[in-house]
Amino acid sequence: MEKSLQRFSLLVITLSLFSFSIPVSLSLPFVVFHGFGGECSNNKVSNLTLSLRTLSGHPGSCVEIGNGLLDSLFMPIRQQASEACKKIKQMPELSEGYNIVAESQGNLVARGLIEFCDNAPPVINYVSLGGPHAGIAAIPEGCTDHVAPSGYVKIPTDIEKYLEYSKYLPELNNERPGEKNSTFKDRFTSLHNLVLIMYQNDTMLVPRETSWFGYYPDGAFSPVLPPQKTKLYTEDWIGLKTLDDAGKVKFVSVPGGHIEIRDEDLVKYVVPYLQNESTLSSEHEAM
Ligand SMILES: *[C@@H]1O[C@H](CO)[C@@H](O)[C@H](O)[C@H]1NC(C)=O
Ligand SMILES: *[C@@H]1O[C@H](CO)[C@@H](O)[C@H](O)[C@H]1NC(C)=O
Ligand SMILES: *[C@@H]1O[C@H](CO)[C@@H](O)[C@H](O)[C@H]1NC(C)=O
Ligand SMILES: *[C@@H]1O[C@H](CO)[C@@H](O)[C@H](O)[C@H]1NC(C)=O
Repeated sequence: MEKSLQRFSLLVITLSLFSFSIPVSLSLPFVVFHGFGGECSNNKVSNLTLSLRTLSGHPGSCVEIGNGLLDSLFMPIRQQASEACKKIKQMPELSEGYNIVAESQGNLVARGLIEFCDNAPPVINYVSLGGPHAGIAAIPEGCTDHVAPSGYVKIPTDIEKYLEYSKYLPELNNERPGEKNSTFKDRFTSLHNLVLIMYQNDTMLVPRETSWFGYYPDGAFSPVLPPQKTKLYTEDWIGLKTLDDAGKVKFVSVPGGHIEIRDEDLVKYVVPYLQNESTLSSEHEAM
């Protein structure tokens, strides 16, 4: 003990005599975005955030949009994403990059942040829990008068109207012919890992495969196309295919209903993606 302490002190003294540069390993932080009708302070969301912090050993927090629950229902998703963009840029601890875990509708906020937010710190890994990435073909029960989901409802038999009037998802997915923005694609493609978790018993998302970017073909309610058979993938509108070809996409299917994740699945599919170190070269000045 004594001896190693001495040796350490000697090392510190020796090193502090010079100006030098060494790589410093930083614990990348993560942020959580909750879903429709959730809020950071609710038991389930705060418990998830705390569990992820404990299990990963990395710092992390839930980022609230507006006033929480009500804004998650009534604030248009585009505005939620723009609020998230502002907030993230005001968090100095994220300035070297960070990871995201998002639940349900919070995934459309997260992707808005990744694709639309200018001059933002980089998102390294992104874990999506039950996200309506390709849209939803039915409005969940009791949600008809809420504003937020209208940004991602996509009725397969009414695609023309969707492309013309939908205020959020067509742009996020680069779906409109002639209006595809390569910046959105470049930003999404720069992710290091994309983990898409689908719940086998999800009845909230129709179809549940939207969690993997799977969806109905234009014009019909069947069959559900796997992600690799959709135009978003084959024509690589946002870089999903590029990421997948590079081995950076994990399509994960877990037991349970909408965003009901078991501890063992959290440990297996979420935690490893929060344990990334960012190695930066940092200048150290002599005393
Ligand atoms: C694409 O998006 C970027 C970032 O928001 C924006 O600066 C650029 O003007 C957009 N390009 C087109 C062609 O709309
Ligand atoms: C999934 O749903 C089936 C049929 O309703 C049910 O038998 C099963 O217990 C459910 N599993 C989980 C993990 O929720
Ligand atoms: C909180 O999270 C832990 C770990 O994931 C889980 O075992 C526990 O059941 C959760 N408690 C509540 C109230 O959700
Ligand atoms: C960890 O993050 C660094 C950038 O900070 C990246 O280069 C590397 O690919 C990441 N590794 C994993 C496994 O996510």
